[in-house]
Amino acid sequence: MSQPVPEAIIPGTRPSVLAPMQDVTTTNFFRVIARRGAPDWFVTEYFRVHETSIPEAHIVDSLLNHQSGRPIFAQIIGEDTPHILRTIRLLLKYPIAGIDLNMGCPAPKVYRKNVGGGLLRDPGKVAELLHAMRAEIPGRFTVKMRIGFADMTHFDELLGLVAKHQVDLLTVHGRTVKGLYWSEVDYEAIRHAVQSVPCPVIANGDVTSATKAQLLVQTTGAYGMMMGRHAIRNPWIFRQWREVQQGLTPYQPTFADVRQYIQELADECCDFAFASEKKAGRLKKFLNFVGLAVDAEGKFLYDMRRTETLEELLRCCDAHLLGEKATQVYPDEPHRGLLARPTRESQPSCEL
Ligand SMILES: Cc1cc2nc3c(=O)[nH]c(=O)nc-3n(C[C@H](O)[C@H](O)[C@H](O)COP(=O)(O)O)c2cc1C
Repeated sequence: MSQPVPEAIIPGTRPSVLAPMQDVTTTNFFRVIARRGAPDWFVTEYFRVHETSIPEAHIVDSLLNHQSGRPIFAQIIGEDTPHILRTIRLLLKYPIAGIDLNMGCPAPKVYRKNVGGGLLRDPGKVAELLHAMRAEIPGRFTVKMRIGFADMTHFDELLGLVAKHQVDLLTVHGRTVKGLYWSEVDYEAIRHAVQSVPCPVIANGDVTSATKAQLLVQTTGAYGMMMGRHAIRNPWIFRQWREVQQGLTPYQPTFADVRQYIQELADECCDFAFASEKKAGRLKKFLNFVGLAVDAEGKFLYDMRRTETLEELLRCCDAHLLGEKATQVYPDEPHRGLLARPTRESQPSCEL
């Protein structure tokens, strides 16, 4: 009933995975990332499952048209077993590497329905779901979870269920649901998961660079690494880690490379139907992360947040990334003390 995880691009290296991110990891974002050195595989943002749901067309599009040449897993979020099984049967018709269950989303409107991170409070429900899903999925069945809801009370029990129901791959984001996106990541808890389940474990949470990925292999023993926000900031992170693992000098992007990446985000990931101000708003969502490594004082972040149209925003990017800076190396770690979204970082929301 189960299958080994997909082969890495370079056999013998540990795999990297682009984290699923709602409203970010679209078809075109997958393409933009893959041009800079794909992760070993992708995971879609979650398909919502409820009584009347059908797989969302834009996420199905990402399954069909990512053109990365790499495997892609379809992620689902829900708690209604019959409808989850119905959705699995629909998704199995597409070219997917497997089905992933979301047990981590921290948005209150999500966890209050006992889905996503809400499931972590109810091991009985998790047992029912894992049992039913395992029986329905002929190939790879994977789970992405946090280490608990408010604390780690049920962590061992949940890991026991992952083992019992023969989950093929477990991703652990080393924060609780209440820790949202900013609490310190508990890598010791990830190490505990690695030692507790028979399947490979992918470590997730603030894997900021290839150097940190290497370090986390040592400290957690994880099979591979998943990068989310840090791949938005540095889309070369996957090839860099692959190169480091092969003993090669990792690619060092310049600020001109970053400016080109921003252009592709603007051209391909900001909906053409939007007005220029709305496109600017969407591009800023990506630039909030890119900006964490542009300058230590946060001048780029300050200036870009004050632009209104896309044209103005791109001119601001030229001013901060080109000229003298164009040939300088873009740092592989973010500058300390800068915030991606100062207005939202204290609010509990899935959207950053
Ligand atoms: C904007 C945004 C949307 C997200 N959407 C999803 C999602 O659809 N499914 C999921 O499992 N995790 C989702 N996550 C969580 C990420 O996959 C990842 O677990 C988290 O960001 C920690 O990894 P990082 O520190 O590398 O970003 C989302 C995160 C962000 C920032």
